[in-house]
Amino acid sequence: MTSHSRLAVLGAGHVGPVIARLALRAGYPVTIATSGDPDDIALITELVIPGAEPRWASDAVADADTVVLAMPLHRFLEVDPGLLAGKLVVDAMNYWPASDGVLAAFEGGASIGSGSSEIVARRLAGSAVVKALNHIGYHELEDRARPAGAPDRRAAGLAGDDPAAVAAVADLTDRIGYDPVRLGSLRAGRVLQPGGPVFGQVLTLPEFERAVDEDARSLS
Ligand SMILES: NC(=O)c1ccc[n+]([C@@H]2O[C@H](COP(=O)([O-])OP(=O)(O)OC[C@H]3O[C@@H](n4cnc5c(N)ncnc54)[C@H](OP(=O)(O)O)[C@@H]3O)[C@@H](O)[C@H]2O)c1
Repeated sequence: MTSHSRLAVLGAGHVGPVIARLALRAGYPVTIATSGDPDDIALITELVIPGAEPRWASDAVADADTVVLAMPLHRFLEVDPGLLAGKLVVDAMNYWPASDGVLAAFEGGASIGSGSSEIVARRLAGSAVVKALNHIGYHELEDRARPAGAPDRRAAGLAGDDPAAVAAVADLTDRIGYDPVRLGSLRAGRVLQPGGPVFGQVLTLPEFERAVDEDARSLS
């Protein structure tokens, strides 16, 4: 992914605008969409995400190389997988029963069963899915972003099964202000989800790697 890759952010709630702002600052052209009319978010977008273009979701996706899923997981189930076919999809979502309700397919947690992004990827068989940008709260995601080399830079994990897609999202992660930690497979990305050792944490690279290693040891 180059800084000219076009990003479509699906979701304009808490985390979507933060991801959009960070990506714009890093030089990516960004569109943003909800499930509805882009006119409804035009003013707020101009105010809080200057430079982002509000569009209908289908148009945003059609013109994007990379699509960031920043909507609640239960709303993702309404999305037509065909819309995302051929795209690099960044899954920033988490399964959160308190707001998603109980979704049978996603029950199981971080240590047993499939990770939520594995289930998302099965649904999006025509897309390259990378789990990323899901484990840091939206305030911190924006406030703790730092350029490469900053002494207080933090780490953000990502996971996927497609090496080119993983490399592209590692580059995105780096450019928006975090040391990217590649976790191997999409399955290994379970450590990033609720119940996992780095969920909700904003850690330095060594702290992040230690937390993941300790978790792996505790499970073996
Ligand atoms: N909040 C955080 O700190 C944070 C951090 C990292 C990851 N996450 C994860 O990111 C996801 C979103 O969290 P959030 O807190 O940002 O949620 P939120 O504030 O409830 O925002 C949801 C946004 O998604 C939009 N949306 C719903 N269905 C859509 C669709 N089909 N296409 C495009 N947009 C759609 C909603 O707009 P309409 O309803 O108008 O369509 C709304 O703008 C969750 O899975 C969460 O776990 C959250």
